[in-house]
Amino acid sequence: APAVAVVVAAGSGSRLGAAVPKALVELDGVTLVRRAVDALAEAGIDEIVVTIPEGMVDAFAEALRGAPARVATVVGGRIRQDSVRRGLAALGAAADAIVLVHDAARSLVPAETVRGVVAAVRAGADCVIPVMPVVDSVRRVTVEGNEIVDRADLRAVQTPQAARLQTLRDAHALVERDGVEVTDDAAVCEYAGLSVTLVPGHRDALKITEPIDLVLAQAILEQRRQ
Ligand code: C5P
Repeated sequence: APAVAVVVAAGSGSRLGAAVPKALVELDGVTLVRRAVDALAEAGIDEIVVTIPEGMVDAFAEALRGAPARVATVVGGRIRQDSVRRGLAALGAAADAIVLVHDAARSLVPAETVRGVVAAVRAGADCVIPVMPVVDSVRRVTVEGNEIVDRADLRAVQTPQAARLQTLRDAHALVERDGVEVTDDAAVCEYAGLSVTLVPGHRDALKITEPIDLVLAQAILEQRRQ
């Protein structure tokens, strides 16, 4: 079965403070969305649907022109999961294709991380997500006050997240039917009763969110050139 992807890029990226949608912010002269698409293509993903903000068709077409994969764009929805659902609907691949859902903001994800996620689905996992250890000490805030949470028990979740295409479409339909709001596709899968398998994430797959993240991303690019 082929591996295909939805790249979600329909967010405004207001925390980055740029005049354009975050996915069109440039890192070393190349937009974040293009870098994300190129990273997936390098890992062998051959069909990609990118969810984009309303009214931005031409700007994204320009950013994605000549990409090394079959790329289409669809306008995203109100929240991330609405955008993913629209992206999944626009994919032409077979029901048993492996589908990755990836944040455009995780523009520098290494190909080895992408391949690791795909391999785990091929090996039989329902839903696969890359995770990282949590480096900070963590506390949970409650109505009574706050309490320690053992960070050794915690993982930070990255993308790409993967499942079989029909499995993920069905899970999203269930979440939509029940009006449940989640922040990632693993939560969608879990709501549908599927098990979630963890594989190693990578520091370079950081979600570029705030201006300081662009500085770090720039440093990662420079390190790769050495
Ligand atoms: O807001 P958050 O950082 O969780 O967004 C994660 C990703 O989802 C971003 O790449 C953003 O562009 C995308 N997104 C989307 N449609 C929305 C909201 C967010 O495609 N309605």
